[in-house]
Amino acid sequence: MAARQPLIVGNWKMNGLQASLAEAKALAEKAAAQKPVAELGLCPPATLVAVMAATLKGSPVGVGGQDCHAKASGAHTGDISAEMLKDAGATYVIVGHSERRADHGESDEIVRAKGQAAHRAGLVAIVCVGETLAQRDAGETLKVVSGQVRASLPDDATAANTVVAYEPVWAIGTGRTPTVEQVAEVHAAIRQDLMARFDDGANFRILYGGSVKPDNAKQLMAVADVDGALVGGASLKVSDFWPIIEAKN
Ligand code: PGA
Repeated sequence: MAARQPLIVGNWKMNGLQASLAEAKALAEKAAAQKPVAELGLCPPATLVAVMAATLKGSPVGVGGQDCHAKASGAHTGDISAEMLKDAGATYVIVGHSERRADHGESDEIVRAKGQAAHRAGLVAIVCVGETLAQRDAGETLKVVSGQVRASLPDDATAANTVVAYEPVWAIGTGRTPTVEQVAEVHAAIRQDLMARFDDGANFRILYGGSVKPDNAKQLMAVADVDGALVGGASLKVSDFWPIIEAKN
């Protein structure tokens, strides 16, 4: 099996002011000193991308956006493009997060276009997929997730430019997590889908996200085909985030 470097990404969502840069700096200093196995990224709100990227330049922590528009520029008030994120110093961009799918009505088709935009700009797209509780209860998890993987990933996806994040909607911000068996089942299915479609499907990183905390990270990160984590709430403070990073050592 191909060696995949683990990836741990913090998603700050709509949290973070200039003062929060101190946490990012502290994380970068800790990572520089302790050299974790995992590649590390932080996705702050758009207002902090450029300043965080400048602050962390040359450090082991990369910076990402939380969303991008499909187009490079134009009359789209309030939106930012993948090119703008790249210009601001970003390496990654999250696309298709369930909060955007829900709050902004983003379809798989839109998410795929955003993934394409990320690749066009030279960013790594972190494409999020995941079922709702109703879908899980109806026994539709694998069907839903496979459908999202198929429709949300652009054809030009490679293991180098794309990461898949499995985030069950019902686990995000709730403190609830799937069992390790449930995580293993979905990650294995995603791996199969990737291998069936892409030559380098075995090399894509597949992250787990949804209520990853210091006390459950070791268990979740040990599951087969879990190549790291997309972490929301627990990424805001180094004291919570660091034990998660260490869990993938
Ligand atoms: P959470 O969020 O860790 O706060 O559950 C994860 C995510 O939405 O990426």
